[in-house]
Amino acid sequence: MNNSKKAKILIVDDEVNLLDVLSTVVANEGYSVKSTNFPDKAESMIDKYDFDLVVTDLKMEPIDGMSILRYAKRKDPNTQVLMMTAFGTIETAIEALKAGAFDYIVKPFKLDNVKLFIRRALEHRATIIENDNLKEILKQKYDFKNIIGDSSALRNIIQRVQKVAATDATVLITGESGTGKELFAKAIYANSNRHNMPFVSINCGAVVETLLESELFGHVKGSFTDASFNKKGLFQVADGGTIFLDEIGLTSKSFQMKLLRVLQEREIRRVGDTKDIKVDVRVIAATNENLEEKVKDLSFREDLYYRLTVFPIHIPPLRDRTGDVSLLIKYFLEKTSAKLGKIFRPEKEFVDVLSKYNWPGNIRELENIIERSVLLADSTTIKADDLPDSILNFNDNSSSNTTTKRELRSIIDDAQRNHIIRVLEETSGNKKLTAKILGVDPATLYRKMEKLDVAFKK
Ligand SMILES: Nc1ncnc2c1ncn2[C@@H]1O[C@H](COP(=O)(O)OP(=O)(O)OP(=O)(O)O)[C@@H](O)[C@H]1O
Ligand SMILES: [Mg+2]
Repeated sequence: MNNSKKAKILIVDDEVNLLDVLSTVVANEGYSVKSTNFPDKAESMIDKYDFDLVVTDLKMEPIDGMSILRYAKRKDPNTQVLMMTAFGTIETAIEALKAGAFDYIVKPFKLDNVKLFIRRALEHRATIIENDNLKEILKQKYDFKNIIGDSSALRNIIQRVQKVAATDATVLITGESGTGKELFAKAIYANSNRHNMPFVSINCGAVVETLLESELFGHVKGSFTDASFNKKGLFQVADGGTIFLDEIGLTSKSFQMKLLRVLQEREIRRVGDTKDIKVDVRVIAATNENLEEKVKDLSFREDLYYRLTVFPIHIPPLRDRTGDVSLLIKYFLEKTSAKLGKIFRPEKEFVDVLSKYNWPGNIRELENIIERSVLLADSTTIKADDLPDSILNFNDNSSSNTTTKRELRSIIDDAQRNHIIRVLEETSGNKKLTAKILGVDPATLYRKMEKLDVAFKK
């Protein structure tokens, strides 16, 4: 129990003597204690102090322990309630358990026992809260709510993923880089029955061939030069849970054969070992390559391909679902706003320009662009001008027969530049006077000159 923040306890009993003794003993344990011998005051005290634990007598007038219990639980289900009851009222005590009391203790009792009950009730409360938090974090992070997109393609995928999550089926996720393959893999895991077991992830393309096998299957001591001890493979680490094999398309055919065996037999053999070990692991694989092509050109085993594509999920590139772009912009801006404690809003043109872009790096690229634009923006309104040239130019090229804002601006820039130079010439380079004639203050003129690259030499 973490005592750094004192647990708050309320004790209610109409027997003043018992109440006094109990309060003193409990307070001596280091808790923050309030007490009352007027049961009808308990509710307002509960309102006021948000107790972690209420210890109350059962039989009291004019309000009994049951109604205090119900009141406390209604206000905050995490509040624990411990009932004190005389021997004759045990049946009601059981009723109290059904109504959510943590436990009951029969009078007369040893004070040491009460201390123990209190400690357990508070530990119970801490565990519940911690579990709730963990579940919440996991769910929030990989909840389908955080998979953004309203295109029919994406909604379709989410539906399929929700269906397959609850099963143990092998899933193959395909899609270009940055389309969300890992995000979906984690969502499947978080929404599966295995979510309390490990999720282990490995990028098969990032590990050299020989090590990949020992990483995944483990090895026994002496099986190769560097193997100076037994090593558990990731399949064993993930036992009972889920393994995510990223970049499966980059594996060698001999590795593919071993993986096929694991999928078929649900057994692994450590490198250098002679016996097999049973594992219960759900496999989710991902690739941004076209496995069908690879099967055709014989660089990917056909039998493994069929094993993996029991339940294929293809995530289309962002350029094929441009309807999702504005939602994603909003989502990432909200995320960045929350991080920076400031609310950023996109100008309409910002969204328009991004909706026309072709997104080779898909959602990852969009996320980076948004973060970058926010950092560069000089106000909380994010403008198209805050975008990198590569994106602005892309748009210029793709809509060359209309006058884009870019072109318009360069026309205006040229006009302004010429105008400033003309006035500077008239004033023989007197910047103060030039500023006055132009109706701006000198500082603004300097900034303009710098921005427009006006180099005026007398
Ligand atoms: N639909 C979506 N909604 C919200 N965020 C998304 C969505 N799709 C992807 N993302 C985010 O985009 C980033 C890239 O996604 P992820 O890493 O899952 O892509 P990937 O397909 O695995 O890419 P790679 O092939 O490069 O490994 C992550 O930050 C992810 O959270
Ligand atoms: Mg990935």
